[in-house]
Order: sequence, then C-alpha cells, then structure tokens
Amino acid sequence: MTLPLPLRPSRHSPKVNPSPTITLDAQHLKKSYGRGKGRFEAVRDVSLRIGAGEVLAFLGPNGAGKTTTIKMIGGLVRPDGGQVSIDGLDPHRQSMALKRVGAVLEGNRNLYWRLTPLENIEYFGGLRQVPRRVARQRGEQLLEQFGLSDKHKTPVQKLSRGMQQKLAIAVALVHQPTLLLLDEPTLGLDVEASETVKTLVRDIAAAGCAILLTTHQLDVAEELSDRVAIIRQGQIIAEQSTHELIQQFSGSAYRIDCGQSIDPQRAGKIMDLGGTVVDNQVHFSSDALYELLDILRPLPIKEIRQDRADLTDVFLSLIRDGDQAPIRDLKQES
Ligand SMILES: Nc1ncnc2c1ncn2[C@@H]1O[C@H](COP(=O)(O)OP(=O)(O)O)[C@@H](O)[C@H]1O
Ligand SMILES: [Mg+2]
Repeated sequence: MTLPLPLRPSRHSPKVNPSPTITLDAQHLKKSYGRGKGRFEAVRDVSLRIGAGEVLAFLGPNGAGKTTTIKMIGGLVRPDGGQVSIDGLDPHRQSMALKRVGAVLEGNRNLYWRLTPLENIEYFGGLRQVPRRVARQRGEQLLEQFGLSDKHKTPVQKLSRGMQQKLAIAVALVHQPTLLLLDEPTLGLDVEASETVKTLVRDIAAAGCAILLTTHQLDVAEELSDRVAIIRQGQIIAEQSTHELIQQFSGSAYRIDCGQSIDPQRAGKIMDLGGTVVDNQVHFSSDALYELLDILRPLPIKEIRQDRADLTDVFLSLIRDGDQAPIRDLKQES
C-alpha cells in the first residue's frame, strides 16, 4: 500500500539509513493545572524523541500525563517549561510546525457527524491550508486505501465506530504530516476494527511518518512499536526499544524439560535455589542457571527454554516497583 505521504526514510530500510531523521524532539516538558493549593503537576519532566518511520508507544497508568504530553507536542496545550521541535520547528512559536503534525485525540474523533467522509477530509484539509482540489484528491486516495471508498457519501454518524476511527486517522493525514499523534487509537474498537487500525498504523510508519501512540492495550503497543516510553506520575520511568525491554525482563527466566520425573532430593535442592519443579519441568528465574544444571547432572535434558516476558509483565513490574533501582538502569540517558 502506498500512502500519499512525503517519501521519507523508512524503518524498513535501516541499512540505508542507520540514523534516521529525528522528526520529534521534545525536551523537559512540564505542565501544571490549577493554582495555589490546588496546583497539580500533571507532567513533571518528559523528554521524547521519535525518528522518521518510527513508532513510539507511550504507556502509563490513567492520569499519568500521556494526553497532556500529546497535547503539548501537538501545540494544543502550552507547556510551563521545556521545548517541542517537529522537524526543527516549534509548534508553540512557529505555526508552520502545525502543518507537520496530525493528531487523533482520545475520545474526540475530530469529525463532523453530518458531513460525509470526503467532506470532512476537505474541510479539515482547508484548516491546514490544503487547497480544496488537492484535499479532495488526497481524500479519495486515503478513503480508497483505508477501505472507505464505498462510504464516501455516507454521513459520518452512520458509519461504524471502526470506520469513524479510520476516517479520523485519514483526516489527520490529509496535510501529509511527518508526525502523527494517536491517543488510544484502538480504544473501544472490536477485534476486527482494531486489527485494521493496527495495519494502517504500520503502513503509515512504513511510509516514513513518525508515530507517537498512547494505548492501554499493551498487546497493541507490543505489536506496533519500535520503542516504548513508560510514564508514571508525570515522569518517564523507562524508555527503550520494545524488543530490548522485553528481552531484558525475559533474560533470566528459564524452563528446563528433563524428559523424566525429578527425584525429591534434587527437587529439594532446586527449591532451595529458588526454582519450582512441576512434573518433568523446572521453572527457574535467576542468574544461577549453571548451579541449577549442576544439580540436575547427569539427568538427560530435553530442552532449555528462555521464558519470554511480554509487555504486560514489563509494564506491571515497572509500575509496581516504580521507585526501585532497575528502572533507572532502563532509562536511556540523553
Ligand atoms: N484541563 C485539566 N485541568 C485540570 N487537570 C487536568 C486537566 N487535564 C488533565 N488534568 C489532570 O492531569 C493529570 C494527567 O492527565 P492526562 O494527561 O489526561 O493523563 P493520561 O492521559 O495519562 O490519563 C490527571 O490527574 C488529570 O486529572
Ligand atoms: Mg489520556
């Protein structure tokens, strides 16, 4: 699928372009709401960078500051401190920057319900200074690519929620932004619509757009993102490549299959070492793998498998143990 996006280096050609262009560079963002005693620091210190063609999953519990951060990046909420740069332009000082960013915000599908999909695209294109004829042409192309062509005359209110969400993304792309902000794009969608939106997100990134994605659905984040940033109480507590983060948490958990039952004496020693024995298998989560193997010697070993964590495990563990040391190790210094 080709999207009507400017041609940019893609994450699918890392060898050609090992250090992709930085599209978003947000540094030390801060935002408080309220005054005096009611003053509340929603975002304390958030820095994020996203390269062209890269998907960053921005995760955190409710109220952690994700939407506020997204709105500061999109030029919708003025930060109390810090800077935002999109392709080198500041959305709070240079209105040109707003042409580089498209946003689909949480719960607000940015659409006029009485207008048709194409009319919505033309209207919002106009707000971003896209000439009507160009907006119509791109709109037709986007609707085609998003599988909405046959609905181009249907008022938005008669579309399914999944179709409305796809249209909201199409509307956010009409001015060919280089940064797309997606706040909970799959929230409330059924499985099929969710899959379609995920495919779109992948395609948009493959066309070179940088994507900042917030979601509560960690499986979505795991499938789509190149990197993950986890925010808690207005601060980033971990930021790393999705793959590495999961690897790091998977690192020392093993499942060993001996192909025969393990005698009680060995089982006792294994438990002393912190392992558990279930039938022929040992589950073990420690760095002392070789000590464990010594205990098992000379039993036959059928298989040793490293247990893979998923993003849910990582997330829960980081959120739970938020103040402890490992998290600081995870955070990339920039
Ligand atoms: N306009 C606002 N006025 C006052 N408080 C707000 C406003 N917007 C958000 N907040 C508060 O700031 C915190 C962060 O909110 P938000 O950025 O929406 O978090 P998230 O998207 O991670 O759930 C929450 O405690 C929320 O209640
Ligand atoms: Mg939110």
